[in-house]
Amino acid sequence: MPLSHMDNTPPKFKPEKSPYNHNRFKWHIAKLTFWSFMFLGLILVFFIQSPSATSSSSSTSSDLTRRSLKTSSWGGPVWEKRVKSSARIRSRNGFSVLVTGAAGFVGTHVSVALKRRGDGVLGLDNFNDYYDPSLKRSRQALLERSGIFIVEGDINDDALLKKLFELIPFTHVMHLAAQAGVRYAMENPSSYVHSNIAGFVNLLEICKTANPQPAIVWASSSSVYGLNTKSPFSEKDRTDQPASLYAATKKAGEEIAHTYNHIYGLSLTGLRFFTVYGPWGRPDMAYFFFTRDILKGKAIPIFEAANHGTVARDFTYIDDIVKGCLGALDTAEKSTGSGGKKRGPAQLRVFNLGNTSPVPVSDLVGILERLLKVKARRMVTKLPRNGDVPFTHANISLARREFGYRPTTDLQTGLKKFVRWYVSYYGTGKKSDQ
Ligand SMILES: *[C@@H]1O[C@H](CO)[C@@H](O)[C@H](O)[C@H]1NC(C)=O
Repeated sequence: MPLSHMDNTPPKFKPEKSPYNHNRFKWHIAKLTFWSFMFLGLILVFFIQSPSATSSSSSTSSDLTRRSLKTSSWGGPVWEKRVKSSARIRSRNGFSVLVTGAAGFVGTHVSVALKRRGDGVLGLDNFNDYYDPSLKRSRQALLERSGIFIVEGDINDDALLKKLFELIPFTHVMHLAAQAGVRYAMENPSSYVHSNIAGFVNLLEICKTANPQPAIVWASSSSVYGLNTKSPFSEKDRTDQPASLYAATKKAGEEIAHTYNHIYGLSLTGLRFFTVYGPWGRPDMAYFFFTRDILKGKAIPIFEAANHGTVARDFTYIDDIVKGCLGALDTAEKSTGSGGKKRGPAQLRVFNLGNTSPVPVSDLVGILERLLKVKARRMVTKLPRNGDVPFTHANISLARREFGYRPTTDLQTGLKKFVRWYVSYYGTGKKSDQ
């Protein structure tokens, strides 16, 4: 160490001539050494203590994994009681559903709807900061008022998932946890692999081993249609030209679902959501930040396809999506495997959940202007080639046939409800609100 080395080296100056200086020098060294050891000791104590402080689990290796996944504390009798109470079924023939991504937009609404009809619901969410976590905390508070507990943890944490399946024989998993967003995939590609691929595989590994195996309904995405130009998009259309890494990971999820269905007899239903919007929505979605920016007087980018083509989306209101999710859960057949072994063929499905009426983004802005009574500052920009597709339009006849899916909310009606929520949650930013 440089410090002790300094101690032994004859100093360049003449210390004998100044004993006072020499002593003071030694005193400094001693002080420095003392505090260095104290500091190192503290770090050591922190590392030794933190895993056992964060959970009651015994295995050290899973503790280490858990810490790296930034999962906060779980375990203990109080925690287990909350888990069981939240997952308790309150209606005859009710389900017990594990909802991953429960503090997310769709997760929150689906959880409330399930709980309301008497199903047992347990949430799981890692509360990551892809967008403002305080919004997720508010949704969590909303769920708590309905008696729904959200376990704080990551779907990659197999020790935690195992524990949950030990405590609750879930009949269904509603898997909505994912890394969302099309453009963010270029900034943080590994987060998509972590959540949408590794996390999904980890969840399926736990489900396949669980006894009984749950039926799984999970969120795929309309983005799997990618550069497909045939319209409307039907489930049988090609999905091998994803335009973003996000879309590619969702497409990978559909293939992975096939594998787990084929090998282990897991019942799997993928839902291809088309631009879901509504109260408690995601701030990274255009309708959401357009509202914010119009109120702020900030210019909003309106994308234009090649040759001044319109960019349009099949906007689907959250209540319609919730009905689709429940319809998928209600028609999901049981998984057929047990003890990690397949016993017979199991159900494998994929459904579009859209609204069947694409609306140009400029019309969306027009509706928002009228609802907010503020003129938007439009900035027409070429659609960047970084993941967004110019057009989406769902063919929903399959979901209609299988579980009577029939969206009933048009964009004008749905946005009115969104704006009402937005203003009550954030205010208009005008003086009278503050
Ligand atoms: C919609 O999908 C169904 C299959 O689910 C198909 O029979 C029908 O032809 C499709 N409609 C259109 C307009 O593509």
